[in-house]
Amino acid sequence: MGNLNLKQTADGSSTLYNQMLDEHYHSIHGALNESIHVFIRMGFLNFVESFKSAKDINILEIGFGTGLNCILTFIENIKLNISLNYTALEPFPLEMEIIDNLDFNLASRHLDAFKLIHQSFWEKPVEINKQFSLEKSRLELKDFNDNKFYDIIYFDAFAPSKQPELWKVDVFTKLFNLTSYNGVLVTYCAKGQVRRDLEKVGYFVERLEGPPGKREMLRATKV
Ligand SMILES: C[S@@+](CC[C@H](N)C(=O)[O-])C[C@H]1O[C@@H](n2cnc3c(N)ncnc32)[C@H](O)[C@@H]1O
Repeated sequence: MGNLNLKQTADGSSTLYNQMLDEHYHSIHGALNESIHVFIRMGFLNFVESFKSAKDINILEIGFGTGLNCILTFIENIKLNISLNYTALEPFPLEMEIIDNLDFNLASRHLDAFKLIHQSFWEKPVEINKQFSLEKSRLELKDFNDNKFYDIIYFDAFAPSKQPELWKVDVFTKLFNLTSYNGVLVTYCAKGQVRRDLEKVGYFVERLEGPPGKREMLRATKV
């Protein structure tokens, strides 16, 4: 999917630049800050806070990429100790040589888990620890089907201007059908059309404060 260049973002963490799409994998204002704010705080932690009784949570990530959202979820869950099933879609897995050069300012005690997340098998569930099962799939979202429901969807596709086919109403309908009741979808994107289309398929959508450098983000709940 195009040549990739390693770049440093404003908070010192890495991102990748896809030359063909002319697009970064993360916000250049801070990859780590963006991921923590949009996916971990507004997605994962907010869900856990709202449903304190949740003991078993299914997470779906659209666009696994560098694995940043996955390792941050794993790290948060060391304290929470909830049973997590994390499914990640990535049709264009990164080469280990690229992954080895990424710097997300992870504590050294988490580097083994980061490696394991990347070196684990694809297309089957792998235990990263007792409470965290990861299944990575090379499927594109359009080819992915599942009979389980997801409590949290990290929608981290490239921007609508770069990959418009992933931001269509039929895609959101599919995601809505994969979302559990009270489940949420979070995305860094706050475009009006995206918000309206998420509402059209049935989600209740909130515009939330965005990560550093971005005004807003969206959280869509299946109420
Ligand atoms: C904005 S990047 C996000 C990366 C990732 N979450 C991270 O933190 O590195 C978008 C990702 O979506 C992947 N992608 C592209 N087309 C896709 C598709 N049809 N279905 C699922 N993922 C796709 C890209 O390869 C890329 O890794």
